[in-house]
Amino acid sequence: SSGSLLAGKRVIVTAGGTMERLDPVRYLTNDSSGKMGFAIAEAAQLMGAEVTLVAGRTSASPPAGVNLVKVESAEQMLVAVTARYDEADIVVKAAAVADYRPVVVSGQKLKKSGDRLTLELERTADILQTLGERKKHQFLVGFAAETEQLDHYAMDKLRRKNCDLIVANDVSESGAGFNEETNIVKLFDAGGLVESLPLQSKRSIARKLLEIVAERLPRSGGM
Ligand code: PMT
Repeated sequence: SSGSLLAGKRVIVTAGGTMERLDPVRYLTNDSSGKMGFAIAEAAQLMGAEVTLVAGRTSASPPAGVNLVKVESAEQMLVAVTARYDEADIVVKAAAVADYRPVVVSGQKLKKSGDRLTLELERTADILQTLGERKKHQFLVGFAAETEQLDHYAMDKLRRKNCDLIVANDVSESGAGFNEETNIVKLFDAGGLVESLPLQSKRSIARKLLEIVAERLPRSGGM
């Protein structure tokens, strides 16, 4: 039954958007609600996994019974995920992580001055890429949120970030992507398209994704 497909597996799921602070009251973020990652965490738990959910800024409520780790920035998410990576069997990176952060974080609320203000940004660490580089036994699932050339960019991310599977999400389609209850995705592995999942609830997408992951896990000794 699906109640034991991931029994004994340690699963890390990231969800939500990161927040990159400018000052004590202002930050850069994105539209991620956390719903996609939360649905994956909940589905993994229902399949018997031990789930750690690393969540950034979210508007939905997280599932009960998972080990919830709240973070703000991409840097904090990197630290939270890498600290638990060695013990993990599966990592699913559904979070929308900032690619850039302010170079200077002001300790005081920024004051108004001239008519224009230029913010200088610098690259954040790429968490998925770091996980790909350090991968040993883990099954690594990335996401690719795109608004054009979905298959091409998803396959490129899969290869560059050394993922086992990538969830390609065309976030310009209606009923798909950020803050929706539903999603539309395509799953790719190194060989190309694995499965196309048409419009359906994020919960249903989560379950199908994890069933495919479970089929692909190495069989452990003695089972
Ligand atoms: O949260 P919801 O409202 O339910 O919306 C779901 C979603 C649209 C956020 C989700 O389905 C999704 O597509 N998540 C990935 C969003 C994203 O940041 O995609 P990306 O193509 O920019 O990044 C590619 C992958 O690298 C992602 O797995 C991302 O987590 C990871 N990444 C990106 C940048 C970075 N600095 N570190 C990372 O690990």
